[in-house]
Order: sequence, then structure tokens, then C-alpha cells
Amino acid sequence: MALTSAEYWNQRYLNDNTPWDIGQVSPPIKAYIDKYIPKDAKILIPGAGRAHEAIYMFREGYQEVFVCDWAPEAFHYLQGEVPTFPKDHLIQSDFFQLEGQYDFILEQTFFCAINPSQRLAYINQINILLKPGGWVAGLLFNRTFTKEGPPFGGSKDEYESLFSSSFPVYEIVMSHLSIEPRMGFELFFSAQKRPII
Ligand SMILES: C[S@@+](CC[C@H](N)C(=O)[O-])C[C@H]1O[C@@H](n2cnc3c(N)ncnc32)[C@H](O)[C@@H]1O
Repeated sequence: MALTSAEYWNQRYLNDNTPWDIGQVSPPIKAYIDKYIPKDAKILIPGAGRAHEAIYMFREGYQEVFVCDWAPEAFHYLQGEVPTFPKDHLIQSDFFQLEGQYDFILEQTFFCAINPSQRLAYINQINILLKPGGWVAGLLFNRTFTKEGPPFGGSKDEYESLFSSSFPVYEIVMSHLSIEPRMGFELFFSAQKRPII
């Protein structure tokens, strides 16, 4: 089974072999949501998995939260936690085939799960999925991993060169709100798609 196929990930959920899952909304992303995302925004969380960020936002009154994952098992947790979450906001799809337009896209351990050869395609797809002036924000690993990925690591320099190729405004800084095991190993980034002027 290819390490980066939908079947591979679905099996990980079926086996409950999900060490990436921190079991809560990621604190740096929660802080970003609370500060910057208006309640009427349309939000996409790609590679959402058990989607703790979506559960948090839905409970906080955000109505336009969409989650995408190609592993159908991933959505069961969210459906159990928030049974009224709209079914048509659960998008079982390959992120790279997704269509639509969003005000915000949130990144939490999805980028590190895709093959590094797809990183430029990720940036291009994020740009397509954002409305003009929309924002992508979230966490990226600031480290390498000794075992073969996923997860695949990276560095601030690499990410800056990727983001600067497509986004006129972006910021990548050390995350100071990471959970303890990831403290010092995560960068928080935000980038804005060029607005129409
Ligand atoms: C490391 S997990 C992270 C899940 C969740 N964001 C979290 O932090 O708990 C990566 C997720 O991305 C999904 N995924 C990987 N490649 C994908 C793709 N091309 N399209 C959609 N989902 C994908 C996997 O099924 C898996 O749920």
C-alpha cells in the first residue's frame, strides 16, 4: 500500500494508529481563529482527520466550516462529537482535486503528510481555493525526521521560498503556543492571496 494513498490513511484510522492526533484544537490555531477569523467566514480544513479545529469552530458558532479528507474513517469522530455538523461540509476527496473558494484555509499536520514532491502543487492548490484576499494559516514542522515519512519535515528557508513564489504577503515565525512535545519544532505561518484591486 503506497504510503501516501487514501487506503494507507484510512487503514491508520481503522487501526487507531494516529500518533499525529493531538486530541484537541491546536493551541496556536485556536489563538489565530479567536483573533482573526470572523464568525461568517467560509473556512476549509484540508487533511482534517478527526478535525478538532472544525469541532472547536462549529461549537463556537462558525457555520461555514468545511473539512476535506480522503480517508472516510477520519470523519466518524467529528460526526460523533458534533452530530449536527452539516454532512455536505464533510468533503471526502483528494485535496488536489478539490474545487470551491474559501476565505480561510487552516493547516494542521496535512502539509507534512503529503509527499514533498507535491509541495509546490499544495501551494498552487491553496492559491486556487482561496478567494482573493483570503488567508491560509497554520503550523509547519521546523525539523527533519529520521524515519521515512510521513511525516515529512522541512525548514523555514524552504517554506519561505515556497510561499514567496505565490503569496505577496506572508509571515513564518516560531510558534510559542505549541503543545509541549512540539514546542520548538513548529513554525506558525500565515499568507494572504493577492486581493483584487
Ligand atoms: C497526519 S494526518 C493529520 C490529520 C489532522 N489534520 C490532525 O492533525 O489530526 C494527515 C491527514 O491528511 C489526509 N490526507 C493525506 N493526503 C490527502 C490528500 N491528498 N487529500 C485529502 N486528504 C489527505 C489523511 O487521510 C490524514 O487524515
